[in-house]
Amino acid sequence: MNKNILVVGTGTIGEPLIGLLAQHKEELGVDNVNFFKRTPLTDEQGKVEALIRKGANLVTTNDVIKDFKSMGFNVEDVEKSYKDSQVIIDCTPAGNKNWEEIYSKLSGEKRFMAQGSEHGFGPFFAWGINNDSLNQEQNKYLIASCNTHNIASIVKTFALDKSRDLNEGRFVCLRRANDVSQNDSFSPSPTITKHDNQEFGTHHARDVFELFQQEGEDLNLFSSAIKLPTQYMHTLWFNLSFEEKINLENISDDLENSEFLMSTEKLSSNKVFSFGRDHGYHGRLLSHGIIAKESLHVKDNNLTGYCFTPQDGNALLSSVAASVNYFYEDSWIDKMSIFNKYIFKNI
Ligand SMILES: NC(=O)c1ccc[n+]([C@@H]2O[C@H](COP(=O)([O-])OP(=O)(O)OC[C@H]3O[C@@H](n4cnc5c(N)ncnc54)[C@H](OP(=O)(O)O)[C@@H]3O)[C@@H](O)[C@H]2O)c1
Repeated sequence: MNKNILVVGTGTIGEPLIGLLAQHKEELGVDNVNFFKRTPLTDEQGKVEALIRKGANLVTTNDVIKDFKSMGFNVEDVEKSYKDSQVIIDCTPAGNKNWEEIYSKLSGEKRFMAQGSEHGFGPFFAWGINNDSLNQEQNKYLIASCNTHNIASIVKTFALDKSRDLNEGRFVCLRRANDVSQNDSFSPSPTITKHDNQEFGTHHARDVFELFQQEGEDLNLFSSAIKLPTQYMHTLWFNLSFEEKINLENISDDLENSEFLMSTEKLSSNKVFSFGRDHGYHGRLLSHGIIAKESLHVKDNNLTGYCFTPQDGNALLSSVAASVNYFYEDSWIDKMSIFNKYIFKNI
């Protein structure tokens, strides 16, 4: 039987994910990468063509097949693709709704994924953070959001992997207003997110708490968020307070040895973003976070610092990893090494 993946949505997350899967499908042992573009927009014709050139196949709903055909595209019915694809990766802001209306009616043997905002879709998964959570009994996963990837990497690298007792982790997500590809939701001034979660402040700390709770951890985490008038990328301020005293030399070694955090001497997000535009995949950095190493500050048992968050890139490999794991339970980690060429240690 062919090994087929369907990506639903071609936005900020779907578009590069389709490219990543299609361009590496041979090395990953995947036969077909299909993508569902819902709306036949003439101003997005170039995007569809580029994804087809990368080796992906366009599918859509029956009612608009003729519109895509009139643009010159070969296109198939998404209903066929729902049936023929063993892995379905939802990259829309409607993953939970799509589960209710569509995916839950398909075979439960498939693996379904939704992204970031679709809390409750399934257990959290983040590549390299909780690899062991993938198993064939569970048929749906929530791919952790960009901030969850970043915060979880910091907690894992500096606390859990080193068995340091974490008293408390505090985080401020300084968020870009919207993605460079988007017109909506730009913010003309810093705009605060309400602390609407009594326990965790905002959902960012809650999500990381829940991810590690799946692993049996019970962490004391709190987050705040503020939207800034920039399109470049999120930046995260963090403070980890440990039971014991720590020293900067050990922390720097932990950063150097981390597989998923990179470091930089750059102090502005435009410089980091620009490196991603020039050297990343689809202009995106795929690491979980980029620590501004000169921001690292240790005092007694406290570590404070800043970390840039590649919000439109750091979740991509998690969707790929969870797909490859489904098809190749024994060799998926080896297959993922094809992406090492996109990972940098210092930028
Ligand atoms: N943006 C980020 O940096 C980022 C980072 C991590 C996670 N996420 C998460 O990723 C998900 C998608 O975000 P995004 O920023 O990529 O969104 P986006 O750029 O607004 O793109 C949304 C895409 O979803 C499609 N779509 C929407 N509703 C659909 C439906 N019911 N059926 C089929 N297609 C549908 C749209 O298709 P048409 O245009 O063809 O109608 C569009 O291609 C969200 O859960 C978000 O939280 C986003």
